[in-house]
Amino acid sequence: MSDRSPFETDMVTLTRYVMEKGRQAKGTGEMTQLLNSMLTAIKAISSAVRKAGIAHMFGIAGQINVTGDEVKKLDVLSNDLVINMLKSSYSTCVLVSEENKEAILIPKDKRGKYVVCFDPLDGSSNIDCLASIGTIFAIYRKTVDDEPKEEDALVAGHNIVAAGYALYGSATLVALSTGQGVDCFMLDPALGDFILVDKNVRIKKKGKIYSLNEGYAKYFDPALTEYLHNKKFPEDGSAPYSSRYVGSMVADVHRTLMYGGIFMYPANQKSPKGKLRLLYECNPMAFIIEQAGGMATTGTERVLDVKPESIHQRVPLILGSPDDVQEYIACVQKHQKSS
Ligand code: F6P
Repeated sequence: MSDRSPFETDMVTLTRYVMEKGRQAKGTGEMTQLLNSMLTAIKAISSAVRKAGIAHMFGIAGQINVTGDEVKKLDVLSNDLVINMLKSSYSTCVLVSEENKEAILIPKDKRGKYVVCFDPLDGSSNIDCLASIGTIFAIYRKTVDDEPKEEDALVAGHNIVAAGYALYGSATLVALSTGQGVDCFMLDPALGDFILVDKNVRIKKKGKIYSLNEGYAKYFDPALTEYLHNKKFPEDGSAPYSSRYVGSMVADVHRTLMYGGIFMYPANQKSPKGKLRLLYECNPMAFIIEQAGGMATTGTERVLDVKPESIHQRVPLILGSPDDVQEYIACVQKHQKSS
């Protein structure tokens, strides 16, 4: 973490960082426009999240506030913000949102070359109890120069050009990767800009925390059951792992990035493909974790190598410190051999 003085004159703001990255890549400026628009949407969402209670933005959508205006639910508002900012950035052609059944195809006069998949407000079941929530996004370059279509978003995650998330927690943070490591920025509310606080974040080789919804243990497969038993009752005499689970993916993944360990939303008997969505939850998080030196798997395949078949497809997700993820994969393989 940087110990930035409030009087520092050469701080790296995220706006400056994005412009510098664009310059280094000798790009056309479209990615810079896109990222700056995404960040504006994130700042607006952060501001809405912080005053949601007093602005009566919890609960169901479509309420009327005291001044007679329609108040949107936070997730609807966040979705509208991201879509509007990205549309007017003149840098995108196809948008896939968790909130929209079909992909949004950008009209010709506003079109650019990037495909963006996003979850505008992830962990929304946590909104009303004030736990951390987040925004997740992945950006791809459209490869074929033809009319944009939904299928343009059905590419494997290893094609991501940039991805990131915003965490609306005890502070608002953005973790971003353009494919050269992960950098973290904290929103300074006085400046209205994000400041670089953690450069080239590296995940621990092995952690001490496991994170999953263990309430579904009844439906777990034998490999997962054995893996978790080993975390609680290690046979090598080491200390048991701690268990942490917010139930808000951005918060759980960010803790894993910072402290190490393993985050899991595995397949189970009730949800054979897990719960999390490949395009706008698993892929961006897998990209960030890999860029920080970690691993992300479905249990049988690298997440970033899964070829999507539909835009809201789910996949099992296990990510985190490389030694922890390897140990889980070894457990899965052992059970596959013996069955
Ligand atoms: O996909 C939405 C989400 O809220 C994630 O942020 C979170 O990881 C997961 O669902 C929690 O699911 P469950 O309540 O089944 O543990």
